[in-house]
Amino acid sequence: MPISFDSERKIFKLDTATSSYIIEIYEQNYLIHLYYGAKIPDTNLKNHKFLMNWFGSVSPQNINIEDRRFSPDVCTFEYPCEGTGDFRSSAFSIRNADGNNATDLRYVSHKIYPGKPRIDGLPSLHVNTDSDADTLEILTEDAVTGIRAILYYTVFNNYGAMTRFVKVINASDRPADIERVFSSCVDFNTNEFDMITLYGDWLKERTFERAPLGRKKQGVSSKRGSSSHAQNPFGAIVGRNTTEENGDAYGFNLVYSGNFEFSAEVDAHGASRVLMGINPDAFGWHLEPGEEFSSPETVMVYSSDGLGGMSRIFHRLYTNHLIRGKWAHIKRPLLINNWEATGMDFTGDKLVTFAERAKEIGIDMLVMDDGWFGKRDDDTSSLGDWQVNEEKLGGPLKDFIARINALGIKFGIWYEPEMVSHDSNLYREHPDWCIHVPGREKSIARQQYVLDWSRKEVRDYIYEMMKKVIGENKIDYVKWDYNRCITEAGSPALPPERQKEVFHRFILGTYEIMDRLTVDFPDLLLENCSSGGGRFDPGTLYFSPQIWCSDNTDPIDRIDIQFGTSLCYPASVMGAHVSASTRAGFETKGNVALWGTFGYELDPNTFTPDDIELIKEQVSEYHKYYDLIRSGDLYRLISPWENDRRVAWMFVSEDKEEALLTSVVMRKPHDNAFFLRLRGLDPEKYYVDDTSGEVYSGALLMNAGISLTNYSNNDGDSFKIYFHTL
Ligand code: GLA
Repeated sequence: MPISFDSERKIFKLDTATSSYIIEIYEQNYLIHLYYGAKIPDTNLKNHKFLMNWFGSVSPQNINIEDRRFSPDVCTFEYPCEGTGDFRSSAFSIRNADGNNATDLRYVSHKIYPGKPRIDGLPSLHVNTDSDADTLEILTEDAVTGIRAILYYTVFNNYGAMTRFVKVINASDRPADIERVFSSCVDFNTNEFDMITLYGDWLKERTFERAPLGRKKQGVSSKRGSSSHAQNPFGAIVGRNTTEENGDAYGFNLVYSGNFEFSAEVDAHGASRVLMGINPDAFGWHLEPGEEFSSPETVMVYSSDGLGGMSRIFHRLYTNHLIRGKWAHIKRPLLINNWEATGMDFTGDKLVTFAERAKEIGIDMLVMDDGWFGKRDDDTSSLGDWQVNEEKLGGPLKDFIARINALGIKFGIWYEPEMVSHDSNLYREHPDWCIHVPGREKSIARQQYVLDWSRKEVRDYIYEMMKKVIGENKIDYVKWDYNRCITEAGSPALPPERQKEVFHRFILGTYEIMDRLTVDFPDLLLENCSSGGGRFDPGTLYFSPQIWCSDNTDPIDRIDIQFGTSLCYPASVMGAHVSASTRAGFETKGNVALWGTFGYELDPNTFTPDDIELIKEQVSEYHKYYDLIRSGDLYRLISPWENDRRVAWMFVSEDKEEALLTSVVMRKPHDNAFFLRLRGLDPEKYYVDDTSGEVYSGALLMNAGISLTNYSNNDGDSFKIYFHTL
């Protein structure tokens, strides 16, 4: 039983494939967290909730509990609240109608059932059949205010993963205001941990950082309105000695594209509280009597096989239970995008020449990026005016697409639906349709504002325009872009007590439109983008099975970005293209882009006959390794955070019959006698190196390794070896 309840001891036990998670209903119905870690068979953990034997006068106690070791301030709680004896950061804080935040949620009842519920209006992981997962719902209540919270836990039986979210219900007869509602809280009774997060910037997304937990609060967050380039809604808590292949690794990832916080607070007693959820700094939610609010979902993964083990669980889980729709499991088109080649300076005729060349080298789809609508020739105008610029395309869109399709090439198009340019008809007609605070200057970024998608009429207006263009034309793919942050987060359509809801309502609006788009056009392939990878998160992935990783297409810079991204996101979702960047040749550019969706982002008219031969070869490799890369297991053999000169990674098929090793020299190393030990192979099997024809045992490859002496070691060089069993 993945989820069990011991009614005598009053203990819940949630077992994933790799972990156990244990909760106790203690005296006075306190919900105490007892354990999260490697799988254990029993639950005799009654002393694990106490972190000290004697508290003196500093820690408050409950008058009805005799055991003086119990104090809310030092107990490991399941869902800690504000103002009733626990001085650490709370997971939940709600201002009641009397104006105070004192809250104490205690256990009322629970349910255990097969399957997994959906979360209204929010993306979440899905089950394919009810036997994929089991769910525990724990109903809690504050006896004084009548505020209720249901804690949801879903255990994915075949993975080392569980998900959590919280539904708050105002079951009282007076209004209340949620100020903090974290999706998950895990209290560990130790602080022997490091925290790993993914920081970044435009052109530098998801860079790995590891730091020990100190006796303080530390973490990352966003209040830009999106998950952002600056920090990703992913964090790992790992043992001090955890490596790529060994040791405890707990991964937390929020299925949400808006403001988030991931934090860990180590208290005076050396316990660590790990929170993941909506960033309370830029959030509030007003609940009238009877109203409910659901938090987004946290995905929690545990592996004792280090960071690599954790990543591989995330990859399989997301491939099978996050990415949906037609494109989840079928082969996606190989595309060429015109952005880096032309910017907005293109014509229909020019793009037709792209399609002609693309056809010659085996590309399936042409994507027309920004600049096809309104009078947009640079980034100062026209967002919101989604009418085709027929002059630029040389006629109606339909005719232009017909020219592309006649070459046997599919067609994709760019949109930035949530935005309006200052210089646009839409803004001139509806200046109040963007997010703003009346009377306050609106900050501008890239000459544009963010539309107020908390308002239905605004969402409908944009969606109807999109639907018309997509419905009336043969469009196979949409690149959905999002190129600025939210400032002055207000909406004149909401009353004062709901102004703090704007950020979350905006994201709900985005999700509603992405949902309508994918339901109305089930064959459409949606790729998200946000000035590169500024909204690269599981919330976005739920709607679009691939996301553009970064506007930085330099293959050497991409190493950091793709290694960081791979901590929790699979190769199939990483938008990666070969571009005209010059720090490495076509071969290395192709080898790096193969670890992703693969495609081209340059002018194919510039290809020399030699380039064409190489690119044809790349295209055939893309097909050859497509399944191995998308359904195989990733092993990061040498990561850029361990070695800034040479990196290596490999994909191994689930049956261990084949593997693809890739290594890139970022900067000439001085270690020519380097032996690279492979991982993930079957030690008993024999593998053929497809290039040399040499045969090696898996044991040899993983222990003696392969010598790199024969491979060129200059800046930007790379090689790959395909191994398959005899
Ligand atoms: C963003 C994207 C680019 C491109 C431009 C178009 O920067 O990341 O790929 O689509 O917008 O304006």
